Amino acid sequence: MKFLNKTLLFVTAGLIFLGFSFLISSNKIVENKQSNDERVENLLRQMTIDEKIGQLVLVDKNAIQEIDDIARYGAGGLLSGGGDKPEANTPAGWLQMVRQFQDAAQKSRLKIPLLYGVDAVHGHANVPGATIFPHEIGLAATHDADLVRKIGVITADELVATGIQWNFAPGLDVVEDTRWGRVYETFGSSSTVVSDLGAAYIKGLQSGSGKAHVIATAKHYVAAGAMEWGSSTNSQFKIDQGATLVDEKTLRAKHLPPFITAISAGVESVMVGHTSWQGTEIVGSRYLITDVLKGELAFKGFVVSDWAGIYEIPGGEYHAVVTSINAGVDMVMLPTDYKNFIENMQRAMAQGDVSQERLDDAVRRILSAKFKAGLFERVVGGAPSLTTVGSQEHREVAREAVRKSLVLLKNSHESLPLSKNAAHIIVAGSAANNIGKQSGGWTVEWQGIDGNWIPGTTILDGIKNAVARSTRVDYSESGEFSGEQKLADVGVAVVGESPYAEGFGDSDHPMLTKEDLETVARVRAASKKMVVVIVSGRPLDIRVDTGDWDAIVAAWLPGSEGEGVADVLFGDYPFTGTLPIEWSVKK
Ligand code: GLC
Repeated sequence: MKFLNKTLLFVTAGLIFLGFSFLISSNKIVENKQSNDERVENLLRQMTIDEKIGQLVLVDKNAIQEIDDIARYGAGGLLSGGGDKPEANTPAGWLQMVRQFQDAAQKSRLKIPLLYGVDAVHGHANVPGATIFPHEIGLAATHDADLVRKIGVITADELVATGIQWNFAPGLDVVEDTRWGRVYETFGSSSTVVSDLGAAYIKGLQSGSGKAHVIATAKHYVAAGAMEWGSSTNSQFKIDQGATLVDEKTLRAKHLPPFITAISAGVESVMVGHTSWQGTEIVGSRYLITDVLKGELAFKGFVVSDWAGIYEIPGGEYHAVVTSINAGVDMVMLPTDYKNFIENMQRAMAQGDVSQERLDDAVRRILSAKFKAGLFERVVGGAPSLTTVGSQEHREVAREAVRKSLVLLKNSHESLPLSKNAAHIIVAGSAANNIGKQSGGWTVEWQGIDGNWIPGTTILDGIKNAVARSTRVDYSESGEFSGEQKLADVGVAVVGESPYAEGFGDSDHPMLTKEDLETVARVRAASKKMVVVIVSGRPLDIRVDTGDWDAIVAAWLPGSEGEGVADVLFGDYPFTGTLPIEWSVKK
């Protein structure tokens, strides 16, 4: 009997223990499942109206009049617009700058960390020394989603190492007009390719390796790739910041899918572009932002407006603020007038022009993204270390991307691959020895840089490193090789576009310059076989010129690892790139 009692006691005790542990664990699961939501609600309940308004503010770091304003106004975010760099434009300089701003935010009553956003659209290219990948148009030519995801992971690592947790990328515009200056910031003209590669990049950026989680931004919502030539609202531009006139059927069939896929991939922010649709600025369109994006597509992240975009809404600044916030914009890239915006929002709340529910919804979305990014746990830095920025391992991935991005446009008489043992090779062209040109816009400066001011390898470097010791390689940017009696075995002319960004790249007839064509002609006259490598952000009109060009390669904007071009020119790797956008070339 005693034994039975003991067993009964033991079993009962065990059951009680199991019961409690289940309760605790289930409660813990429930607690964890609600942890971000719960934390958001807890914080929201404590916030004053002014603290809530502050979270909607996204200011360019150069516009902060005094650093105490960050806590005084409870700013939600800062950004470095293109070219807005720290005093010391180094990885350590970026980390120090962001840390300084985050420390300033910690002086606010509720210590809500800042979001700090940059345009790391082809690697963290604001920073000399970072790995600079091919721009999106070149990644599209690789049609390699896993490689694009990997590039997202690396970009996240290099961003978080410098204290940044928000990237205004990927561009998900589906391009219709190659005269637009932002073609290279897109994955091309196929909605399916844009969707697939955009989702891959987002998954990479937002998962990162280790703890490097960076908020991705699906931009520019929506149909910015379909703007009409000549419709720009900016007098300096032709098509950028213009009007999209497509009907709703086309918008939904071609331009919305990349955002649908991005939402499925978990994108945490969406940027509304400088575009109007059927006469209405999209940044003021309640239908497109609230009804479609947040309602129909159930986007749960936050919507950010583009650079001063809300003020393109006609009717004065107060009307612009009220209209954009009521349309569903959550965070406003002002990017300068934060005091004026806050006063307008205080008036809008006082007059009931913006409801408490709308304000709370915007703040809830912003805080949720901050909690998800781990900002409250790890305000700045943390894994990975600064040494990851521009590491050899990262550069190898960039070099692979360069190889896979190359598209063979013409190859008559089997001119390619070239022999590494050719006796004499001449190299010429404005983009042969110029890392700035091969990187394009959004590189250290907004409009890019010309010349070799950042680490990396030029296309010429790659050619020199690929050939046999016995091969003579001569270089002349203009293609003038005086005193040569014999024709060189091979001539390589590397020509193309100078760096530009946004509307400054709008061009009514994208083509090679007269100087480039003259250089090509000189190389043609001085070599038995000529290869032309085109470095450009989009297809260029070369139809009239290519009759005696033996081979033509589209290299797009390869970034810092120019050596990848020679890897394929000399046959170490095959051409696998395909055109992400139509490019007609006379064979
Ligand atoms: C620019 C661009 C946008 C970029 C933003 C911040 O105007 O339209 O793509 O993310 O400003 O630099």
